[in-house]
Amino acid sequence: MKIGIFDSGIGGLSVLHQAMITLPEADYIFYADVDNVPYGEKTREEVRNLVDHAVGFLVGKGCQAIVLACNTATSAAISYLREKYKLPIIGIEPAVKPAVEHIHESGRRVMVVSTPVTAKGEKLKRLIEKYDAMHVVDVVALPRLVRFAQDDDFDSSDVIEYLKCQFAPYNLENYSELVLGCTHFNYFKDSFAKLFPDDLEMVDGNTGVSNNLKNTVIKNGIFTEADSNKKGSVEYYYSDRKMESQAEMEHIRSFMTALKE
Ligand code: DGL
Repeated sequence: MKIGIFDSGIGGLSVLHQAMITLPEADYIFYADVDNVPYGEKTREEVRNLVDHAVGFLVGKGCQAIVLACNTATSAAISYLREKYKLPIIGIEPAVKPAVEHIHESGRRVMVVSTPVTAKGEKLKRLIEKYDAMHVVDVVALPRLVRFAQDDDFDSSDVIEYLKCQFAPYNLENYSELVLGCTHFNYFKDSFAKLFPDDLEMVDGNTGVSNNLKNTVIKNGIFTEADSNKKGSVEYYYSDRKMESQAEMEHIRSFMTALKE
């Protein structure tokens, strides 16, 4: 069973990491579109064309299902892709529902952080309308975090200063839930923790999307008897280039190890 996992960059590794726990039997192809990252500052049409290219590439490699491990790509392209391609395409969306459920009647608020494309997209608006009857959700776009992440900078004083500046209009003491609505933001948990109250809960969509992947491959007959107890594998692509250099593999390994901790 071959599964494609797509992101604009290294953020999708956090989804791959969870998918390998939930569905260890799969052979994964991880595609990071590093030639075109960041997506979050492009137009929706540009994002859709780039994701379309990558999905076509993954289909050409024999993938039987694709995970868009990118909230921005899901927001801009999933409906289009589902019409165009026959295979199951699973998207990721900011985990607004569990975050709103967690706060119950505490009187505190939920902050969703994402890229500008996701923040302005209809999909997120509809999601918030559906679950935020109490009007406790605020959305903040943090585009520069993606650039920091691609430069391996997760907790420098520049990162903290940038976050302080973006959060200046908000009283962070009011928040008990932070929704990580961009897969790149998983690596900034320590920086977020420095700025929000100690009891802040951070939620991402990684477990949800991995469970969804497993259910989908079972339902569609992609997970067959032959896959049971099989040990899966991963191949990595940077845009359309197979990653083979030791240095690049080491770099990826360091992220995967950090995610285990
Ligand atoms: N990691 C992507 C997301 O989840 C987008 C990052 C970017 O390229 O701007 O939204």
